[in-house]
Amino acid sequence: MAKLDILEFPDPRLRTKATPVTVFDSKLEALIDDMFETMYEAQGIGLAATQVNVHKRLLVIDVSENRDTPLVFINPEFEIIEHELCEYDEGCLSVPGFYETVSRPQKIAVTATDRTGEQFTVAAEGILATCVQHEIDHLDGKLFVDYISTLKRQRIRSKLEKEHKKSA
Ligand code: NI
Repeated sequence: MAKLDILEFPDPRLRTKATPVTVFDSKLEALIDDMFETMYEAQGIGLAATQVNVHKRLLVIDVSENRDTPLVFINPEFEIIEHELCEYDEGCLSVPGFYETVSRPQKIAVTATDRTGEQFTVAAEGILATCVQHEIDHLDGKLFVDYISTLKRQRIRSKLEKEHKKSA
């Protein structure tokens, strides 16, 4: 397994719309394993392939307290079960160090395929519902900072740009 580099805002590659996964092979297995390793090492609860510069519709998630419930969603789609919104202070491995409140539907049904290509549907609520929606946004080139004010987003952008310059 290998730790992958995570793209950071405002990297334009994060705006790429990912295409469906069509081949379920050992290369896909290896990517999934690498994404889990990357996510766990970065102490994140979710990671979209977009964030590691692979523009395929694939997510890995683990919202469990003990970090022992890895979930894989390939070609995920969701339907809203409960339109009532839920607020979370969201963060993102691609926007390190910043947290902002975002409202999203609190209960959804997610349909996806697993790593073998088998389709499944699960209900998700609370933090898992938020996380799945946040990660699917990545696959469509969207970031949680798109939901906040332009002023706040520009502040985050210039702070991260300064840090990127320092570490370049
Ligand atoms: Ni994110």
